[in-house]
Amino acid sequence: MEVLGIDFGGTGIKGAPIDTTTAEILQERIRLETPQPSTPEAVADTIKQMIDHFQWKGKVGVGFPAVVQNGVVKTAANIDKSWIGVHVDQLLSLKTGCEVHAVNDADAAGMAELYHGAGKGNGGIVMLLTIGTGIGTTFFVNGELFPNTELGHIQFNKETVEKYASDAMRKKLDLNWKKWGGRLNEALTYYEQLFYPDLFIIGGGASKRMDKFQEYLILKTPVIPAQLQNNAGLIGAAMFASKK
Ligand code: BGC
Repeated sequence: MEVLGIDFGGTGIKGAPIDTTTAEILQERIRLETPQPSTPEAVADTIKQMIDHFQWKGKVGVGFPAVVQNGVVKTAANIDKSWIGVHVDQLLSLKTGCEVHAVNDADAAGMAELYHGAGKGNGGIVMLLTIGTGIGTTFFVNGELFPNTELGHIQFNKETVEKYASDAMRKKLDLNWKKWGGRLNEALTYYEQLFYPDLFIIGGGASKRMDKFQEYLILKTPVIPAQLQNNAGLIGAAMFASKK
């Protein structure tokens, strides 16, 4: 099925039509700035602009940087707080005239990587982290998704994992790769002790720079970069909508 995949991130909103059977990107991806403040009305306008650009009439999947439970936004760590309680599927479907389905961005990226990318064919317990403005987590047990895990918000070193080891924090504190890689290693070690995963996949913006920090990840569990990198979110969002 052809579905328009959209990834709503802290700084950019990216989109492209996707063949959900092959995960192929069918037209050049576009990126629009995330409006600030990222209120529901402003983001809906930007998504409408994207749909108009592709002259899209079919289904749309949106990877959303928050917990989305049955179409309703439940948290807002890195987006405008007025999103909490909004029925995002309804809002965006009304605004655009298309059938829109939203899913947590990390869960979207995880689905794309597990079925078409770095995790393809992996059974067991696979944990994928999207590391960017925030830290998103997704969990698969024998190919089945456990949605909205939000382990980036787990308390760690008097902070949360997200506040300690996100890519935004690396930039804000101007940490070098060794220092930041060390922080990520501590966070992954903590997850390792809690969940004993069989594989970690690192996605989000940070996955493109894995060569810079891989040597500081000293874990018992294998750690590999996402293959679809920054496209995983929009591919997975399209896959999610195709099943609705
Ligand atoms: C949000 C998650 C999201 C992650 C990555 C976190 O702050 O709580 O829902 O997956 O950022 O965008």
